[in-house]
Amino acid sequence: MDAYGLFGYPVHHSWSPFIHGLFARQTGQELTYHLFESEPARFRHDVLDFFFNQGGCGCNVTLPHKRAAAELVNELTTRAQRADAVNTILTREGKLVGDNTDGVGLLTDLSRNLGLRLKAPRVLLLGAGGAARGVLAPLLQLRPAMLLIANRTPERAVELAKEFADLGATHGAAFDAAALQQPFDLIVNATSASLQGAMPPVPAKAIGEHTACYDMAYGIGDTAFTRWARQSGAAVVAQGWGMLVEQAAVAFELWRGVRPVTRPVLNALQEHAAAKAAARTPA
Ligand code: ATR
Repeated sequence: MDAYGLFGYPVHHSWSPFIHGLFARQTGQELTYHLFESEPARFRHDVLDFFFNQGGCGCNVTLPHKRAAAELVNELTTRAQRADAVNTILTREGKLVGDNTDGVGLLTDLSRNLGLRLKAPRVLLLGAGGAARGVLAPLLQLRPAMLLIANRTPERAVELAKEFADLGATHGAAFDAAALQQPFDLIVNATSASLQGAMPPVPAKAIGEHTACYDMAYGIGDTAFTRWARQSGAAVVAQGWGMLVEQAAVAFELWRGVRPVTRPVLNALQEHAAAKAAARTPA
């Protein structure tokens, strides 16, 4: 059977086998999708010698390997080059092609699943690391009236803004900058603060009655960011479950040439997460 999989470290918590398993069943595709726990020092060997040289058809790549993956493929798509990160590898005419479907996954989730109609939006992107870089070009496709990158280390935000200046007006700032005192249409959390249960010190005034708040991280129950967004009165509050499913759907289509329907898979995933959250909360 055609073999696919996900390389990460750690990777055992991943929902990707569940998602791709449902996609395969829905589209009648025969394939396997396994998790590969790959230490950084072994990543190159694992992907090239162990996986592709043994007949692997395609793979996903997650933390901490997204940058290393961009180094080992033969070709990069334009969007992977911009993101400086690869989350999907496919084979084309005997060559390994690195792509990045995270950004398009985010845009599809915002528009199709959450139904946001963003016209020249004011966008606030929190964080200036790899996750923020990966979604900058797609966010600039929204043709924002303003795109502000705010980061704990403001210099990194300013640097990142400069790198993407050719795609649209982008600025970098600290969390206490005056620009954060006005409401945004969309706030995307691309910091890793949620993973530590922390919330960057963003002023509540950044949220108005129409603001949509999106945490690229996802977990069981609220993250610190989604809790803050709810308490501050955001109109829409979402975690990255939809982005996860949508980026997977694009990867699946690149590999198999057939586009799965994502809604039932997203519903199944969110039901699992809700059931887990309920099991944790004492009645
Ligand atoms: P990733 O690839 O997940 O983006 P990264 O490149 O290490 O990881 O970047 C992490 C991002 O989260 C950075 O923007 C970091 O801010 P700094 O650039 O100042 O380090 C941000 N971050 C991590 N922990 C944070 C916290 N507790 N509060 C605010 N920002 C945090």
